[in-house]
Amino acid sequence: MSPSKSRAKPSGTDQLADSGAMIDLQVMSGTMGPDVIDVRKLYAETGKFTYDPGFTSTASCESSITFIDGEEGTLLHRGYTIEELTEHGSFMETCHLLLFGELPSKSEMLEFEHDITMHTMLHEQLYNFFKGFRRDAHPMAIMCGVVGALSAFYHDSTDITDEHQRKIACYRMIAKMPTIAAMAFKYHIGQPFIYPRNDLRYADNFLRMCFAVPAENWVNRPALSHAMDKIFILHADHEQNASTSTVRLAGSSGANPFACIAAGIACLWGPAHGGANEAALSMLAEIGSVDRIPEYIAKAKDKDDPFRLMGFGHRVYKNYDPRARVMQASCHEVLEEVGVKNDPLLQVAIELERIALEDDYFAEKKLFPNIDFYSGITLKAMGFPTSMFTVLFAVARTVGWIAQWREMIEDPHQKIGRPRQLYTGEPPRAYVPIDKR
Ligand code: CMC
Repeated sequence: MSPSKSRAKPSGTDQLADSGAMIDLQVMSGTMGPDVIDVRKLYAETGKFTYDPGFTSTASCESSITFIDGEEGTLLHRGYTIEELTEHGSFMETCHLLLFGELPSKSEMLEFEHDITMHTMLHEQLYNFFKGFRRDAHPMAIMCGVVGALSAFYHDSTDITDEHQRKIACYRMIAKMPTIAAMAFKYHIGQPFIYPRNDLRYADNFLRMCFAVPAENWVNRPALSHAMDKIFILHADHEQNASTSTVRLAGSSGANPFACIAAGIACLWGPAHGGANEAALSMLAEIGSVDRIPEYIAKAKDKDDPFRLMGFGHRVYKNYDPRARVMQASCHEVLEEVGVKNDPLLQVAIELERIALEDDYFAEKKLFPNIDFYSGITLKAMGFPTSMFTVLFAVARTVGWIAQWREMIEDPHQKIGRPRQLYTGEPPRAYVPIDKR
């Protein structure tokens, strides 16, 4: 039997019902969203597990940070819509909101920004760490390595049982990620590292560390900083997605927060998750012109072709991704600012979106553009190479990861994450000595 084929067989109707053994399972309700069936005592009482690969029907935890209604296409952070946060707020405000549950007052905001900026620099020894990488290393490979190494440098914030240390670890992660990301970029392109400047706002500081060179004066472009800040807010958190679940699972064993965030970065790298913006831009470039779109739509619909429309579809959104609308508007603003009126990739994207949205295949499967559909074009116009796209996603998502990690550690019901399995391998058999095989 091919190893890729499932060996599991349906084993008849539910034996619980057959044997008449009924157990009561408690139904729990949150403030919004579907109720959940509490199956914690299921195995103890019935000897059976639930089977849910990909966790399509499983709530892995209780959380009060982010809520998504995939049918409606809404995204709330602590009750505020993503549209309101991107229109009126700043990324720092969103960080405070995600971490502490409330939008900050003016004085809280000043204190929070001050405390974060006090951690933007890296231990000087870390600069040597970068030099161990090949110059052509993918910046995400550098991110995995350097962020994983942080725990070797900041011993005074790795005790997860100490509330103060947990808070400092959160601040350090939010503050240092732009510095590390910009350094990964500079190293990749062979330019000198630019140190952070604490008199600049978060997005300005990041853009300067990425694009300033010692030979020239760096001039801030408010429209680009504004767009960068919005992109950070849009990616800040997204409930129990693959990378966040990875951070929680890693953290459930008591691992230090820096190691957990490195695990999240590794997960984010995949093309089905954070790598999709890079993949979406490559796809638009490959399509190249509007007249080739039907060919690619046909490929996406062909069951025998593994090609998918990158930047389309979402596990949770079965409606337009609300972040995609904001991203689309930002994309137009950035292109205008950098003077690209008729970007060919944007033309392909707009037409591809139009054709796909009118196509029955995409309508029936509820496939809509997601945030990654327009973010690649926007980031490219801002001057980032495609290899940096997922890195930028990681910078923004760090606050979500660390807020979810902190929430998990402070949850009294928290246990090590340990899923079970449906075993389909060999039953016990006798060992055969090598000369008898
Ligand atoms: N193009 C063509 N067909 C698709 C696509 C697509 N982009 N996405 C899903 N489908 C089809 C798929 O073939 C399947 O068809 P069938 O039922 O006939 O087998 C059906 O739609 C359901 O797909 P699925 O893979 O079972 O759905 P999922 O919830 O497991 O996957 C997804 C969600 C995001 C991985 C998937 O839609 C995808 O691969 N999209 C492209 C990659 C992408 O844009 N990812 C970014 C996600 S948003 C950013 C983030 O949160 O990281």
